[in-house]
Amino acid sequence: MTQRYSPEDPREWLNRAHSNILRARAVQPGVYLEDLCFDAQQAAEKAIKALLIAREVDFPYVHDIAELLTLLEKAGQIIPQPVREAERLTRFAVFTRYPYFQEAVSPQEHQEAVAVADEVVRWAEGLIQKGNSSTITRKPSTIDYSQGTPMPKFKVVITDLGYPTYKYEEEQLKPVGAELVLTNCRTEDEVAAAIRDADGVIVRLAPCTAKAINATTRCKVIARYGVGVDNVDLAAATAKGICVANVPDYCWDEVSEHALALIFSCARKTVRHDRLVRKGEWDIGSRDPIYRMAGKTLGLLGFGNIARSLARKAQGLRFRILAHDPFVKPEVAQELGATLVDMDTLLRESDYISVHAPNTPQTRHLVNEAALRKMKRTAILVNTSRGPLVDEAALARALKEGWINSAGLDVYEKEPLPADSPLRQLDNIVLTGHAAWYSEEAGVELQTKAAAEVARVLAGGWPKSLVNPQVRTAAR
Ligand SMILES: NC(=O)c1ccc[n+]([C@@H]2O[C@H](COP(=O)([O-])OP(=O)(O)OC[C@H]3O[C@@H](n4cnc5c(N)ncnc54)[C@H](O)[C@@H]3O)[C@@H](O)[C@H]2O)c1
Repeated sequence: MTQRYSPEDPREWLNRAHSNILRARAVQPGVYLEDLCFDAQQAAEKAIKALLIAREVDFPYVHDIAELLTLLEKAGQIIPQPVREAERLTRFAVFTRYPYFQEAVSPQEHQEAVAVADEVVRWAEGLIQKGNSSTITRKPSTIDYSQGTPMPKFKVVITDLGYPTYKYEEEQLKPVGAELVLTNCRTEDEVAAAIRDADGVIVRLAPCTAKAINATTRCKVIARYGVGVDNVDLAAATAKGICVANVPDYCWDEVSEHALALIFSCARKTVRHDRLVRKGEWDIGSRDPIYRMAGKTLGLLGFGNIARSLARKAQGLRFRILAHDPFVKPEVAQELGATLVDMDTLLRESDYISVHAPNTPQTRHLVNEAALRKMKRTAILVNTSRGPLVDEAALARALKEGWINSAGLDVYEKEPLPADSPLRQLDNIVLTGHAAWYSEEAGVELQTKAAAEVARVLAGGWPKSLVNPQVRTAAR
């Protein structure tokens, strides 16, 4: 007999919402409040979906309460103010305060999120029970709940969340018959439990360790949102015949634009002047010289995809471009108007140094005290690659003691940047929080491409960007 389930039954969705509410309320030692808020958010979302199903309104696979409420509103449902609060309170707690970016959720925020989710569930339940009341007109259903709908062929688990909607993943995965399951794991045990019976996995920051991978029973592919796969145990995946895929090409323009933005902020001192003007100061130039940018030398440390994108842009700015990359041929650099030089020449001759090499044991502290001391006193250092490439303690001293002029950082040795980092105290540095990759367009591209890799493997193919090619010879 074909296995069937009935996700189109509004009562089923309300039951799931109740389970989420129960979990959201149950504060236990060791459970993060963010996770409980996530359950509250899921409860509110499921209750709204129950209502949409009762009204037979099609809805995309979104994880976004505002979007779902808009659909309900378009279908003629009046949304009470406390229900509107669900969007603000639950989403705020889960996404904005997710500890990777910010500090933890407070007990009060957790209570508010649960209370408002509770309100949404009761509201939806009331309307569904009323059936053909004046507030909700339930059309006669065309769906036969006794038969249910066919079970999807595959289960794809997203291990940890961070995007307001997952419709892009669904667009890629639905055509191959995959059901998407959203979880918000933090530990390897949580990941192991979540992916045990998954056919495909998409991971953001959660630890996809050997223990978690070895617990899988039918997984064929793990895709990472992003370039780095440090949180996925490649050896364990290869040994199990699991393809690991990444998305190396979704944000070259964004990161090179961000590097330029940091160079400009430092060279034109825009951030510093903004602070001065706000304080009522108007003596620009008197104690903090600015130098003309056109004609200056830009040094690219690493000449891969992002550095090349930056070189193309820098040509239009009339910069002289130097690059240091032991793995690139001089003619490749030349094609993009850059001259390949040794590290010492790059350090001594550049006015702006932008770091674009990967984080490897060989590149750790590539920009250390010795390198900083070789740079011009007027030089600007920008790092949008990975934090460990720059020795932060040495950089803090260089900036304080004037070995170099200023710096712009997007990445840090420890992220988020610790509260007691000496970098926070300095005036001649511009700091952004690992945001160089981000644009709305890059986000959509990242989600779409990661899910497309999983869909490709589930459909019997290979990923476009296979990180562990050795898996081709292992059993699949
Ligand atoms: N801040 C962000 O949001 C963000 C987003 C995407 C990528 N990144 C980072 O940007 C960096 C560059 O990304 P990419 O896509 O251009 O990578 P890439 O692999 O295309 O280029 C890296 C280049 O560095 C070179 N390299 C390796 N070792 C070197 C060394 N010792 N000295 C000099 N060069 C060396 C390589 O030969 C390669 O050409 C990576 O560290 C990546 O993780 C950051």
